[in-house]
Amino acid sequence: MFRIFARAGGNRLRSTTTLGALAATRAFGTKAAPPSRLRNIVWASTGAVVCGLGYLYVTDSSAGIHRYVFTPILRLLDPEDAHNLTIAMLKYGLCPADRAADDGLLAVEMWGKRMSNPIGLAAGFDKNAEAIDSLFGLGFGAVEVGSITPLAQEGNPKPRLFRIEDSDAVINRMGLNNSGMQMCADRIRSRFWRLLASQSKQQGETVAELSSSVNRSAFTDRLLGINLSKNKTSKGDSYSDYVDGLRTLGAYADYVVINVSCPNVKNIAAGADVAVLESTIKAVLSERNRMPDYRPPVVLKIGPDNDNDQLKLIAQLAMDYRVDGIITTNTTPTRPAGLRDPDEVAKEAGGLSGAPLRGMALATTREMYRLTGGRIPIIGCGGISTAEDALAFARAGASMVQVYTSMVFDGPGKPREIKDGLVELLKGRKWTDVVGEDARK
Ligand SMILES: Cc1cc2nc3c(=O)[nH]c(=O)nc-3n(C[C@H](O)[C@H](O)[C@H](O)COP(=O)(O)O)c2cc1C
Repeated sequence: MFRIFARAGGNRLRSTTTLGALAATRAFGTKAAPPSRLRNIVWASTGAVVCGLGYLYVTDSSAGIHRYVFTPILRLLDPEDAHNLTIAMLKYGLCPADRAADDGLLAVEMWGKRMSNPIGLAAGFDKNAEAIDSLFGLGFGAVEVGSITPLAQEGNPKPRLFRIEDSDAVINRMGLNNSGMQMCADRIRSRFWRLLASQSKQQGETVAELSSSVNRSAFTDRLLGINLSKNKTSKGDSYSDYVDGLRTLGAYADYVVINVSCPNVKNIAAGADVAVLESTIKAVLSERNRMPDYRPPVVLKIGPDNDNDQLKLIAQLAMDYRVDGIITTNTTPTRPAGLRDPDEVAKEAGGLSGAPLRGMALATTREMYRLTGGRIPIIGCGGISTAEDALAFARAGASMVQVYTSMVFDGPGKPREIKDGLVELLKGRKWTDVVGEDARK
């Protein structure tokens, strides 16, 4: 867009130049003097430099215009329309990018896979895996798509997404709307092979060689998570939807998430029912262990409302069955005290995310790390907005963190902002040095 503008600007300048020269010739009966040509060259060069700098500025995700102009404009729209517009823009690459390289202090390994930084995008943002590359382009170390269910489903009736502006919070009762595992699998699969084919041309390695050296994200230092859930029509105690999802999508995931904690769908309260949780974990892991070639790590996503006894049971199950990771946490159906809510949006049913969730999610992270003795990697999630928040989750035991709601309020520069802040806060220490530090005190 900016390139077109620069060219059009150039043409306009050129035609002005010719007319100016003509007028000068008529008035004085001489040819256009060299100084006017010089002036035009100066004008054209200045225009080109301004356009170039403008382009660099607008396409940089950390530029203030995204946080202070574009994001507030988007927030004038209905929340779901704003979200759909954002996804459409990301899908077609109409978005800024994180241009800076990640500092080596932020590198982390999850399940033997390298990530250049520990900041991930949480599930629910790109439910249908439509904008993976633009999201990686914003600087996330991991992007988690989904939740994806076997069959496409529309979710709950609208309106179903609400912002509580004064509290930097969101309430959603989307109801796991998504286009189903076949469509998502086609998209994810074709992206993977397309990127490998183009890397193979550039690097001279065969696609087969590349597929064993890159992560499923198609990068060497980023992870693609695929979050699976159950259709609304499936029985509460069934687990076959997760198994089907794993069979269809597992080969293309750096990690697979079993979402047993969506507060908006009645039949997936498995997190609260230990027998159902156990049969689900057992079935999914034995299916994963039967996969012929590649076996993705299986991660459990839990809610923030489990009491200590429930957390103990979940931790025990996770250790007994060797679950590969735990995400702490999903949204909460509760309304924590101190919610600033002049418009009484909090009365809407649904899961609350954002700043008011942070304390609950952090406490769950800390407790889960303690209960599992740090043996199972934890992904901290819930109200993370700043580098200080991310560091607090790391100290409580999170090997990596995820964000969602803070990006709705602050825009696409969020991963870069957190990463820069972390490098300052870490003061030369590595991210991995601080993971679980609170428990070692
Ligand atoms: C609009 C919306 C939709 C979400 N959809 C999903 C989902 O489909 N699956 C899932 O596991 N989590 C979903 N989540 C929960 C987020 O992944 C995350 O756990 C939660 O929002 C807490 O993080 P945050 O406070 O940074 O937003 C959704 C959250 C929001 C706000």
